[in-house]
Formats: sequence, C-alpha cells, structure tokens
Amino acid sequence: MFKVPPVFARRLQELLRAMPKAELHIHIEGSLEPELIFALAQRNDVPLPYASVEALRQAYAFTNLQSFLDIYYAGASVLLHEQDFYDMARAYLARAAMDNVAHAEIFFDPQTHTARGVAIETVINGLHRACEDARSELGISSTLILCFLRHLSEASAFETLEQAQPLLDKIVGVGLDSSELGHPPEKFAHVFARCRELGLHLVAHAGEEGPPAYIWSALDVLKVERIDHGVQAMHDAALMQRLAQDRIPLTVCPLSNQKLCVFPDLKNHNLRQLLDAGLCATVNSDDPAYFGGYINENFTQVFAATDMTARHAYQLAFNSFEASFLPAPRKAELIARLQAHIHAFA
Ligand code: HPA
Ligand code: ZN
Repeated sequence: MFKVPPVFARRLQELLRAMPKAELHIHIEGSLEPELIFALAQRNDVPLPYASVEALRQAYAFTNLQSFLDIYYAGASVLLHEQDFYDMARAYLARAAMDNVAHAEIFFDPQTHTARGVAIETVINGLHRACEDARSELGISSTLILCFLRHLSEASAFETLEQAQPLLDKIVGVGLDSSELGHPPEKFAHVFARCRELGLHLVAHAGEEGPPAYIWSALDVLKVERIDHGVQAMHDAALMQRLAQDRIPLTVCPLSNQKLCVFPDLKNHNLRQLLDAGLCATVNSDDPAYFGGYINENFTQVFAATDMTARHAYQLAFNSFEASFLPAPRKAELIARLQAHIHAFA
C-alpha cells in the first residue's frame, strides 16, 4: 500500500497539474477548438452558420446533453480529409502532453462522418497516424475507441462495425455515446456481443443524465468493463456496492457535468463521495473545447470546489492507470512513475 506523504494545501494545485495521469474519456471531435473549426472550414470550403470564432464560442451555452450535441455535430462537419483528422488528434495530444497525460484512450464517432460521405478509413487512418507520431515525438501513448451513436439504430452500428473490420488492429475497443435518455444500453446488446467475440474492449456512457438502470444494463447486458460518467450511480446503494466490489471504473468529467447542468455547481459534484465509497473513479475532460478546459482544469477546479486532498489526487491518478486498457507492464511502469513523482514532490 503506497502511503501518500503530506502535501501543503497551497501546493496541491501544482501537484494536480504535474502528476502523471491517463485520460480515458475524451471525444476527439470535442477537442476541436473554434479556431481549428474555422481554419478547416476555410481549407475545405465548408460553410458555417457562425460569422466568427467569437460568435461560435458565444453559442456554447448549454442546458442539457442534447443542446450540446446539436452544436458538437455541426462543428464536426468541417472534417473531410485524412489530414483533418490527423491535425485534430495531433493538436489534442500535444495539449494533453502539456497536462502530463502519459496515456490517452480516445473516443471517435465514425457515424458522424460516414453519414456525410467520409470513408471510415479516412477517419481511422488520420487519427491513428496522429497517435503514432505523438508517441515518437511527445512520448505520450494513445489508443482509439470507436463509439456507436445510440440515437441511431443497432443495424447502423452493425454496418459501422462491418466497415471498420479491416481496421480493427487500429482500435482497442468500442463505446456507446450521444443522446442517452430514451436509448438504453440494451438497444445495442447484439452488436456489443459481437464486439466481445472479436476481442474488443467494451465501454459505454451510462448514468450521465440517464437512470441507474442504464448502468445496470451496461454492466449486465452489454458486459462493459468501464462506465463513462456513471455519476447517477449515487442514487442506487446496491449499484454503488457492485461498482466498488468489482472495481468497475467510472470515467467522470466534472466540467462537462457542470456545463450540461448535471450538477448545477461544481460544489455539488459527487466525485469525492464516489472515491470515498471506494469506487474506481477517474477525472477526464469529455469535450474540452466545449466545456472550458482540458484535464488539468478539470482536476484543479473540482478539487478547489470540493476540498479534496493529496490522497484523493494520488487515488485518481492511480485509478486512471489501473482502469486503462494498457498491458500490465506499462501500467506498473506508469504507477511507479506516479509514486516516484509524489515522493519527490512532498
Ligand atoms: N455524452 C454523450 N455523448 C457525447 C458526449 C457526452 O458527454 N460527448 C460527446 N458525445
Ligand atoms: Zn463523453
């Protein structure tokens, strides 16, 4: 058991920024900054319904998940060529490396692009090349998770899986995202069963806005290994016990929850309660270009609002490596690096 040495409260924010960490919940289309949206729109001659970067930023006032998704899918419409996907992912990975992210598992939404006539290999090859270059140039490792859009049919998810089949060596797993309410996990039971047979890792968004029942069915019907968000688990004591006992990771995104009004104020966020109940919670940015900050901003703001300590900081970074889909030796190496960092820091 690693004993976390005392860290002065005024140095905690510095520790949060400097400690090595993994990011496990980042939608790459949600890392598209308004400046890059405008640059790509110009490069690709795609019309935008906003006059300027500032006008687009002004539109980022959300009341719930759907109000965000409408703008997020519109922003992604500027992505057409392999180089566009490369530039987007390369920019995210450079920014993540600045936040001392040692490893990232990156979501992408192929159906958002194939519906506009972009080939799935254009998407995957561009993202994959950015991951490879970031590994050699920045020393950050990263893998890709293909997400099915849950507002579309299971047949559409199967079609997407078929298109991705020749490229499966470039992805580590599949996930489920988009509009949660009215689209329970069990709608995708068959396609997740097929992905499991193919040896892919499985995750799903559940319990962001949706009820604890969606978390239960993500676990028991889809058989996912991690829950994305999952903050609504708090309303179901038996579920909390199950998540703690089985060390099912939750990829929590504090600023996203605040901006989409899941918690009206970060002061009311339940991250600390989830950790104190023994759950394997992690901190992530979700859609950093839209929600006001990358991973370190999520750490520093939620810690400032909820009075967490160096022990929580260590636990969150440890959990991020434990919950990753990295091979055991690389996990051990990163956890050792984290412990050495905290020792040297204190
Ligand atoms: N929830 C569901 N779908 C999403 C999200 C999210 O937070 N971000 C991007 N797609
Ligand atoms: Zn998400």
